[in-house]
Amino acid sequence: MASSRGEFSSRFGFVMAAAGSAVGLGNIWGFPTQAASNGGAAFLLVYLFLTFTLAYPALMAELIIGRHAHANAVSALRLISPNTLLKRIGVSTGVFGFIVASLILSFYAIVASWMIAFCLSSLASLAGMESLSRWLTSFSLPRNMLFMLLFSGLTITIITAGVKQGIERWSARLMPALLVLLVLLVLYVLTLDGAMEGLKVYLLPDFERALSPKLIIAALGSAFFSLSLGVGTMLIYGSYISDKENLPVLGGLVTVVDISIAVLAGVLVLPAMYVALHNGVQIFTEAGALISEDTLIFTVLPELFATMGLVGKVVSFTFFFLMSIAALTSSISMLEVPVAYTIEEHGFSRKTAARAIGGAIAIVSTLILLNFDNLFGFVIAFTTRYSQPLLGFMFCVYAGWVWSRHSILEELRKGYPEVEQGLFWKIWPWYVKFLCPLIILAILAQSLIG
Ligand code: TRP
Repeated sequence: MASSRGEFSSRFGFVMAAAGSAVGLGNIWGFPTQAASNGGAAFLLVYLFLTFTLAYPALMAELIIGRHAHANAVSALRLISPNTLLKRIGVSTGVFGFIVASLILSFYAIVASWMIAFCLSSLASLAGMESLSRWLTSFSLPRNMLFMLLFSGLTITIITAGVKQGIERWSARLMPALLVLLVLLVLYVLTLDGAMEGLKVYLLPDFERALSPKLIIAALGSAFFSLSLGVGTMLIYGSYISDKENLPVLGGLVTVVDISIAVLAGVLVLPAMYVALHNGVQIFTEAGALISEDTLIFTVLPELFATMGLVGKVVSFTFFFLMSIAALTSSISMLEVPVAYTIEEHGFSRKTAARAIGGAIAIVSTLILLNFDNLFGFVIAFTTRYSQPLLGFMFCVYAGWVWSRHSILEELRKGYPEVEQGLFWKIWPWYVKFLCPLIILAILAQSLIG
């Protein structure tokens, strides 16, 4: 079975694909503003600590189960369950995971489509087509539909091409491009007036704010979203890793890349906001907090670019192009979850599965666009606040309690013969068994009560 499935051709290919999945809109715009309004460098330290002690172990649970089964989450959880009841629960978890992955894609495609539209708007403006440029940033239904369909089409095309020719090839091209663009933007923005003040806000630690329990829980939630955990994305990417590879090292690399890009994005976004302030753009809400989320991306930054003349148009194009790349390498990882399931469990061809499921998800996106005020926030909360932690909990329980410790060790030994002597094996099994499920339950309780 393993031979008929796709496999990443190299370690670099896997790291680019998994980092491509992890690095997305969450890193480049979620993390920086959260850090800025929640204690700067102290938030960063809390985030780093939580990522390595909790999100990384959960990532490893998905990668190890995936590589062992060389199959999608439904078959994988069935395979590692010792009895019928656990098999049934495992199958339900896998199925729920692919539904949640599809729903995440349905709203992610909408946000990503705005990035492409803003990117093209800067180009139109550079070419002197001002009315087209304005239409592209208009948030009208026709524009939203057009670009959502375009983005979904791109995602479907890459997934149709398969693991090596699609996911790996495009991630390996786009991720280095993303890094180069990000570094260039950072270097440019840091030369502008006001940038240093933003850097200070980002890097000066305020421990009092960063250590509040509510914040720690919020930081953990975003660490889980950022590493694409819970819905089986990392499990399916893990299933395409060759048996020769050392899993704890690969997972560690992906985690380091994910965090580094988030931290670097902070060095772009925060200074940019203070440059905007310096140029007369409003960056604080009436309550005195830094503007964040969609207003930051679609209002504050475009206003900043508008104060910068011709250079501003180029910077704007580069920034939204970067966001579009980040979104695309993440969206393909979401579509791969239901597609792999449909191919392996129901025998569909990759092309049919990618088109049918991608098409169905685009219909859900259309429904969200038609009923935006009621559905958009609801789908985000349902998937990321409630379902993701719940599913993450299930994966940890399966790795920690259901699957035998001996088989896990065997799986790890394949690419890392001396695993038993290493630190990973001394700590990880304990973490994934006790600490991860407990903390995830705490997040879940918090989001249900709060
Ligand atoms: N991690 C991506 C980001 O930071 C989003 C993402 C990709 C994701 N695949 C996922 C989130 C699966 C949850 C589940 O934007």
